[in-house]
Amino acid sequence: MDYPLVHLSMFFLLISTGTMQAHSCFERVFSFGDSMMDTGNACLLAGGKYPTMSPPFGETYFHKPNGRWCDGRMVIDFIAQAYGLPPMPPSMGGNTTEYFQNGANFAVAAALALNNSFYKRVTGLDPPHPEDHSLGVQLQSFKNLLPIITKGSSVNGVMSSSLFVVGEIGGVDYVYSFLGNKSVFQILSLVPYIVAAIGSAVNDLANLGATTLIVPGMYAVGCAPATMIRFQSNNTEDFDIQTGCLKRLNQFAIYHNSMLMIELAKQRKLHPRANIIYADYYGAQSLLYLNKLDFPAPLYACCGVPGPYNVSTTMISCGTKGSETCPNPQNYISWDGGHLTEAANHAIANGILYGPFATPPLQSCSDQRSDHTYII
Ligand SMILES: *[C@@H]1O[C@H](CO)[C@@H](O)[C@H](O)[C@H]1NC(C)=O
Ligand SMILES: *[C@@H]1O[C@H](CO)[C@@H](O)[C@H](O)[C@H]1NC(C)=O
Ligand SMILES: *[C@@H]1O[C@H](CO)[C@@H](O)[C@H](O)[C@H]1NC(C)=O
Ligand SMILES: *[C@@H]1O[C@H](CO)[C@@H](O)[C@H](O)[C@H]1NC(C)=O
Ligand SMILES: *[C@@H]1O[C@H](CO)[C@@H](O)[C@H](O)[C@H]1NC(C)=O
Repeated sequence: MDYPLVHLSMFFLLISTGTMQAHSCFERVFSFGDSMMDTGNACLLAGGKYPTMSPPFGETYFHKPNGRWCDGRMVIDFIAQAYGLPPMPPSMGGNTTEYFQNGANFAVAAALALNNSFYKRVTGLDPPHPEDHSLGVQLQSFKNLLPIITKGSSVNGVMSSSLFVVGEIGGVDYVYSFLGNKSVFQILSLVPYIVAAIGSAVNDLANLGATTLIVPGMYAVGCAPATMIRFQSNNTEDFDIQTGCLKRLNQFAIYHNSMLMIELAKQRKLHPRANIIYADYYGAQSLLYLNKLDFPAPLYACCGVPGPYNVSTTMISCGTKGSETCPNPQNYISWDGGHLTEAANHAIANGILYGPFATPPLQSCSDQRSDHTYII
């Protein structure tokens, strides 16, 4: 399978968005997702005894471990910052109206899109997290906190002045099923359920009064060093000729994304007044593998152990004894084999905020986001 997106790169080398129309900014950002989004919840749940609490996690931006599976900021942090808000606080870090004044991130590392009992029923596998932190649970926790979040203002006012980012979620459902040796057929059968779970979250939020929702698609899961080593192959046909990534896993991401876009079209019909934006993380990420100037070893993890792709197994070894860290994380796409670097997250966020990877495109706040040049 050949990805037409790759050819788009020829045309999008430099895009100046110019000064856009003035639009009101968001007062808050609320987000949901898994470890690609989590800004500290899983770590708080573990009482701070968590793999990301060791150096070199957090070294690039926060200069200390902070719960993120990253050297610096996540895509969601860059989105918040583009609207003049601080990096995203984890929803479990506080209880007060003040704590939520800029919004909060409900994402939890290892969270499934499907609820735990349903995932176990349809796959026969134990969920990665014995406690259920799936998308529906994250949404419920947002609803439970609404009285605190909206204290002193109207729910509708808060919902309509907030940006909601629903995902990325579902990657854990797929990757765990692959690692659990489920057949492609079995995993394919999960896609409609996962997409429906995301659609249901969008529907709930729109019913509560959300007017702007960004719904990211699946990452290029077939490019992660941890999956590259698990599904090693000597057959060149298994790899994308341009990116070097595993075709089989990326085809899943592409399939999931096409189904998600159909679901979002349905949600737009149900909620004509809501702006429901599809964020093509896959497209934005894929371009990075062609940029050999900034990312000379795109399939290698910056932080890991010596070996193919700088990872030993599918386990994340970054931060453990014997792991090594590259001196230049800004030149890596993968941080620890399973998660992206701040550099990659920044490029993806820019592709969504200013580039061609949001459908429909995000409208600019004239004061904070004007005249930005988007460079791949
Ligand atoms: C939130 O409030 C509950 C009940 O008062 C308390 O048990 C919990 O520790 C609080 N959590 C945080 C993060 O402050
Ligand atoms: C889990 O998800 C399934 C399928 O969407 C649903 O039927 C079931 O009620 C959910 N269970 C819980 C506990 O949320
Ligand atoms: C999946 O297969 C691999 C390789 O054959 C094996 O090492 C692993 O234990 C299997 N995992 C499960 C959950 O069955
Ligand atoms: C690839 O080929 C090498 C050398 O023939 C062999 O040792 C290795 O096991 C093969 N790997 C796989 C995944 O088939
Ligand atoms: C990681 O990969 C890069 C690029 O191939 C290499 O220069 C570096 O030494 C590797 N680090 C480890 C720990 O293997």
